[in-house]
Amino acid sequence: MTESTPGNILVINGPNLNLLGTREPEIYGKETLSDIEEKCKAHAARLDLSVIFRQSNSEGEIVDWIHEARNNAQAIIINAGAYTHTSVALMDALLAVELPVVEVHLSNIFKREEFRHHSYISPASVGVICGFGSRGYLMALDALTETIKK
Ligand code: DQA
Repeated sequence: MTESTPGNILVINGPNLNLLGTREPEIYGKETLSDIEEKCKAHAARLDLSVIFRQSNSEGEIVDWIHEARNNAQAIIINAGAYTHTSVALMDALLAVELPVVEVHLSNIFKREEFRHHSYISPASVGVICGFGSRGYLMALDALTETIKK
């Protein structure tokens, strides 16, 4: 494990987000996850931050990454996909590491099915950004610059 690097942000993407670009583009847009990663890295560089960008379909792997963030990140941006609405384990992990967290969703989860209105990630987050597509990730980086500076 490495020492905490100033300005390092861990961006975590949950299940099915690897399919962005072809997955329900009318809801999630046509950009791929690699497009979003590139945008995040470019924006982070402008803010003097660096980004570790990850995706997994496995809940346990995401829990492990959250734990590792204690040693290699100063903040977490997370789009937990469907685990948002189901995972007590992710909430507990985020609460345990005591890092600033921003929850992001491409779609406006409150405009969609009722089961998407509840998030286990929100109680562990500084704030939530949803409905702005990939721009939400960049907005989260902007928000965290302020949070990290304080
Ligand atoms: C999502 C919204 C979730 O409800 C859904 O399960 C996803 C993507 C979003 O980015 O809009 O997989 O997190």
